[in-house]
Amino acid sequence: MLQITQGDITTLDVECIVNAANPSLLGGGGVDGAIHKAAGPKLLQECKKLGGAKRGEAKITHGYELKAKWIIHTVGPIYQGGNHNEDVILQRCYENSLCLARSYGIKSIAFPSISTGVYQYPIQKASFVALQTITWFLQKCSFYEMKVICILHSQKDYEIYIQNAKKLGINFTT
Ligand code: APR
Repeated sequence: MLQITQGDITTLDVECIVNAANPSLLGGGGVDGAIHKAAGPKLLQECKKLGGAKRGEAKITHGYELKAKWIIHTVGPIYQGGNHNEDVILQRCYENSLCLARSYGIKSIAFPSISTGVYQYPIQKASFVALQTITWFLQKCSFYEMKVICILHSQKDYEIYIQNAKKLGINFTT
């Protein structure tokens, strides 16, 4: 089941939240910075053992001081005009995160809008990739009841996701 909401991902009471990280997996600004701040210093200690990640890959750590038990760190594409496979890499972020979550038996997971901040992926385009990939996964794994939340930081981004979910004819709750 897909839910679209607005707020701060670090406050959500879900089993797993997804971090929009960079290849070092050692923290940064944006949602990455917020998650590391809220999870506490033990998160960085665990991240140091991960050996980084390629764009599109997903790796998992504990959530430490977060309500979420797990954090899945995925590295989105830097948007360079749309002709550098950005959509494929972004799709992989969602797909790999969802498959990794399923392999851990995770039943509720929240995504920020990956790559649409510092990495400058236009949110209109990114929202279609996110919504279609999540919907595809939920349909493919319909036997595996998973709650997926797309949480948007700003009202503007939230309205774009709602509008595009309606355009795609996707069932969702808010
Ligand atoms: N909760 C939910 N969403 C958030 C939060 C938050 N607390 N903070 C920011 N966001 C949103 C942004 O508004 C944006 O829509 O997350 C989305 C992703 O933006 P960024 O965090 O800038 O991530 P991204 O564009 O993927 O760039 C990743 O930025 O922070 C660095 O270390 C990170 O180098 C990496 C790069």
